[in-house]
Amino acid sequence: MIPRRLLHALLLTASACATPYPPQIPLFNDPSSSPNGDRDSTSSGTNSSRALTGRFLHITDFHPDSHYKSGTDIDDSACHRGHGSAGYFGAEGSDCDTPFTLVNETFRWIENNLKDKVDFVVWTGDSARHDSDEKFPRTEEEVVRLNQYLTDKFVDTFRSEESPRGLSIPVVPTIGNNDILPHNIFKDGPNRWTKKFLDIWKKFIPEYQRHSFVEGGWYAVEVIPNKLAVMSLNTMYFFESNSAVDGCADKSEPGYEHMEWLRVQLELLRSRHMKAILIGHVPPARSSAKRNWDETCWQKYALWVNRYRDVIVGSLYGHMNIDHFMLQDSHQVDIVDSQSSADADSSDEISIQSRSEYLSSLRKDWGKMPTPPDDMSDVVGWMDAWLEEDFVTGAGGDIDPQGRKKRRRFLEKIGGPWAERYSVSLVSPSVVPNYFPTLRVVEYNITGLEDAAIWAESSSADETPVDDSDSDLSDEPSIDLKKGGKKKKKKPDFKAPKPPSSSTPPGPAYSNQPLTWLSYTQYYANLTKINHEVSKKQESSRAESSGVDVPVIFEVEYDTKEDDIYKMKDLTVKSYFQLAVRIADKNPPKDDTLVSVDSSLDDGLLEPEQKKKHKNRVWRSFFKRAFVGLVDDDDLDDAV
Ligand SMILES: *[C@@H]1O[C@H](CO)[C@@H](O)[C@H](O)[C@H]1NC(C)=O
Ligand SMILES: *[C@@H]1O[C@H](CO)[C@@H](O)[C@H](O)[C@H]1NC(C)=O
Ligand SMILES: *[C@@H]1O[C@H](CO)[C@@H](O)[C@H](O)[C@H]1NC(C)=O
Ligand SMILES: *[C@@H]1O[C@H](CO)[C@@H](O)[C@H](O)[C@H]1NC(C)=O
Repeated sequence: MIPRRLLHALLLTASACATPYPPQIPLFNDPSSSPNGDRDSTSSGTNSSRALTGRFLHITDFHPDSHYKSGTDIDDSACHRGHGSAGYFGAEGSDCDTPFTLVNETFRWIENNLKDKVDFVVWTGDSARHDSDEKFPRTEEEVVRLNQYLTDKFVDTFRSEESPRGLSIPVVPTIGNNDILPHNIFKDGPNRWTKKFLDIWKKFIPEYQRHSFVEGGWYAVEVIPNKLAVMSLNTMYFFESNSAVDGCADKSEPGYEHMEWLRVQLELLRSRHMKAILIGHVPPARSSAKRNWDETCWQKYALWVNRYRDVIVGSLYGHMNIDHFMLQDSHQVDIVDSQSSADADSSDEISIQSRSEYLSSLRKDWGKMPTPPDDMSDVVGWMDAWLEEDFVTGAGGDIDPQGRKKRRRFLEKIGGPWAERYSVSLVSPSVVPNYFPTLRVVEYNITGLEDAAIWAESSSADETPVDDSDSDLSDEPSIDLKKGGKKKKKKPDFKAPKPPSSSTPPGPAYSNQPLTWLSYTQYYANLTKINHEVSKKQESSRAESSGVDVPVIFEVEYDTKEDDIYKMKDLTVKSYFQLAVRIADKNPPKDDTLVSVDSSLDDGLLEPEQKKKHKNRVWRSFFKRAFVGLVDDDDLDDAV
């Protein structure tokens, strides 16, 4: 799949034709494009006071590499030596890491285009190069220096003299498996890495969280004071490849402690009527082809996110470098009788081949989810119609009792009209140009938050210190997850979180309300085009050593708000459930079908009609987007 040779062929053909840059369109200039209608957040007088914009940035997997040299060999030297096609701003479509030219340009673009247009930044780790070159093994000093460099870049970019905190918005980082040495290995805290990162991230970690950060590398930031917290998880303790720890079941394990911390925090947020975004580096992938987390950690996580579904707005991860999402099915929670899924691959890096297999396995799993009855095949309409009483009861409708029953049964299977059986984790692709460098801006609902306190205008002294001592917020309800009661239930040896009370309305992950994620825009920089532009300039000026003034421009790859393939009204779980069902559909409705002519069948005998291939275009787009668009049509045809 997408062999590098093909990418090189693409590079060569690309250099034959010069494509001019598209005009750089200023982002969000049009007030009507504001996520929440016609609010104009820039015209609030001369005061420096700012209001929420209803957007945040998710950026991940920078992998800066100071050994990177343009013109070196891509395949055998990690772009460190030899002669080859490594580009000025990075080698797109390769395993090389990120040159500082691209790191600097990415921050320049953020400063020019996003600075006053986002409310916070979620930065999900891997802020050092890979240990992929035997000639230059990484050192602890280097890993720390690279992390410090990116931290300084964020501080410079969002510096604010007016804010008591020195920053205009909060930045919330998390530890990646390549941010430590040796990579993947993270011991129980306090350890030298938790102490190091406390020092590097001192501007980002609230004072009252420092103690727990040193304990385990986890912390929370109230990015909208008293309304919304971002909880930075240390997924190293859940990560199957971390051989220094062993899951989340045993009380002596840091993973157990981490889950306890998370439960207590979420309980506190619930009692304060606040909401939470969970972030981490390694996502909870768990399909037949790929498993990232220790099963005992996945089990607790899936239970926690289900029980705190009134509190959690959503979850964001990096690490895998491919753009995709995953659904956690609470019916798979079976902590009493947990068994690891058979032969799933849990190696820490995955090849393009296995990435493609992984995506197919996700699709296969989604194909096993409950599917709507046939007469609900209007995929865009049916979920919205759920909430209309008539639809389910059929009162006054034209649905026969049989059809009504089917609908009700389907709704029961997926956990009601908001699909509360499921939760979603989103994975943003990377800055490191395994494909194209990319970043994501998420829009969320700020209705009713006009008067919310602003992080930059409060001081950390205003924050509510969280009592992190083993507070006993939850009595121990017995756990009853297994439907059908096939197995005898052991009393769990951990405190199971309480579900929301029955009178609690669905949370922001499930129904559109303040803080609900509405859409996201995926931006990418076409390095093929930009590197080519650089070589042209260098040739004409013959001044290779001097800097080049070719800017890196991030363009919109897709925007879920306007996308007529995904057709997502918002980013609620039911929207993702619906999308997953459509991606999995082997026999999609006409609207989701792409008809192409298969020329391999061109033996002169078949009628044109018989040569046509019908493809699910939602699956095709999902696959193409997974690789940030850096996959040509032939490869795509082979895969999808
Ligand atoms: C502007 O800011 C000052 C202090 O920084 C404050 O006293 C004043 O009330 C603010 N005015 C408005 C209109 O918000
Ligand atoms: C990146 O920016 C820093 C200043 O922030 C500068 O010192 C460094 O030389 C730049 N590196 C490149 C490769 O442009
Ligand atoms: C935000 O949520 C409110 C409900 O609280 C809803 O009325 C409004 O339409 C939502 N805004 C957007 C832009 O979806
Ligand atoms: C990137 O640029 C190259 C060269 O201009 C072009 O052929 C290719 O289609 C572009 N790819 C994307 C995804 O924009």
